[in-house]
Amino acid sequence: MPRLKLGVLISGRGSNLAALIAASADPFYPAEVALVISNRDGAAGLAHAERANIPHAVLPHREPSDFAREAGALLRRSGVELVCLAGFMRILDAHFVESWRDRMVNIHPSLLPAFPGLHAQRQAIAAGVRFSGCTVHFVRAEVDSGPIIAQGIVPVCEGDDEEALSARILEVEHRLYPLAVKLIAEGRVKIAGGTVAVAGALAPELAVTNPAEERLARRFF
Ligand code: GRF
Repeated sequence: MPRLKLGVLISGRGSNLAALIAASADPFYPAEVALVISNRDGAAGLAHAERANIPHAVLPHREPSDFAREAGALLRRSGVELVCLAGFMRILDAHFVESWRDRMVNIHPSLLPAFPGLHAQRQAIAAGVRFSGCTVHFVRAEVDSGPIIAQGIVPVCEGDDEEALSARILEVEHRLYPLAVKLIAEGRVKIAGGTVAVAGALAPELAVTNPAEERLARRFF
């Protein structure tokens, strides 16, 4: 079976990129990272692509339309079938978003639709929610909107600051993103009327928790 070709767009650290690269090191994983694009020169995440010998490019664009044109050409040339935004911090051109409709996903560090936009973890702490997490969703023109594919949950603990909550969520992100991409690559993800149905998914496959469910239950209930 040919593996689904991923194009990963980053702006910084690239730990989610690293998680996708690690997942695809398993030959049975149904997707592989074919191209990495950063909009920032010197983004730390580029080192992950380098180390794994994955073609990568830096497009420090001025205008969203310039980026869209250049990134679109590179993605097409690399045969990319699914674009994964992984800490990509620029607004994308509306035509670009439309041209990758249902073929572009993003990971966001909150349980969407709660806390879209910047500083999602800070927003969660300020709101006093007891649980937060992360969401992988298809990308639509409106920031952090779009059909939800999978979510991971974490408790918000007494005394958490933004850094502590971000770290707890990030650990789940690294499991959730490869899982969501796997579901797509296996052809199990169907979008209908703005929501997603996942064929044959068992609950643990759709909800990833940190700490793991069992430990969480012991600790809280
Ligand atoms: C992650 O928290 C992701 O959810 C958000 O940006 C951060 C990127 O981290 N969109 P990294 O660059 O993948 O380490």
